[in-house]
Amino acid sequence: MWQGVSLSFKLVMNRSLRERRSNLILALDFPHNGLPHLLSQSMKILKKTYPHVCAVKINHHLVLPLGLFNGVQKIIQFAHNQGLPTIMDCKINDIGSTNRVITEYYYEAGFDAVIANPFVGWDEGMQPVFEVARQMGKGVILLVYMSHKGAGEGYGQTVFNAETKKQVLQYRVFAEKALSWNADGAVVGATYPDKIREVHAVLGDNVPIYSPGIGAQGGDVDLAMKAGARYLIVGRTVMLATDPVETLKDIKKVAQRYLED
Ligand code: XMP
Repeated sequence: MWQGVSLSFKLVMNRSLRERRSNLILALDFPHNGLPHLLSQSMKILKKTYPHVCAVKINHHLVLPLGLFNGVQKIIQFAHNQGLPTIMDCKINDIGSTNRVITEYYYEAGFDAVIANPFVGWDEGMQPVFEVARQMGKGVILLVYMSHKGAGEGYGQTVFNAETKKQVLQYRVFAEKALSWNADGAVVGATYPDKIREVHAVLGDNVPIYSPGIGAQGGDVDLAMKAGARYLIVGRTVMLATDPVETLKDIKKVAQRYLED
């Protein structure tokens, strides 16, 4: 049963990983109009796969068609009943007052963490997100380097730091923000193992790396884990597989080699 409320999100995730010996996070994504009865299909796949994952990540794929409180909340409750934390991949990216409302709604619905974009900065940007998170005992995971092909156009830019008067890589700045803001996680694409390694060198074990892009986007489990990823996010490779459970088990077996006893 769900006991995550009093522990920090980082500890909740760590416990879930250890108990299940799985660091896989299921991205419960369905293609647009791919399936009728989205809620029952989501429950069906979750009922089969939950023993092999340590958390569930939900995206707009479900929040848009199902709605938050009468649809997605049922999935959150099911996940919690199995002891699984839930993450909302909403990539919060607006002014602080709006960010606050977005964060409050997702946490109120039961989500244990939200994903947010550090690009908006702290003052009147991310500050309210972290404030609500700390008040409600929830987590914030920050984007540091995304998994898709064009990620370098933004996250890989060289930018000028006005304080130090030095040029610096954008994702290095975001990694440092993740550390100084005490984020609960940092997203670095499994498609960029070199970036995982570099970001891991900045974050150490203080901020775990969440790595999407396994399989469908070309990310490799071994390379991501060797580079320092802590959690692997898997969507289409599992969701569109003929046998999602076997596919998940295969990925888990490889990732487990890198988990401590
Ligand atoms: P696939 O099907 O590629 O799905 O395994 C991955 C899931 O993760 C999301 N995604 C990301 N989320 N930062 C994020 O916060 C990223 O860099 C990133 N890359 C993929 C994607 O939307 C899908 O839900």
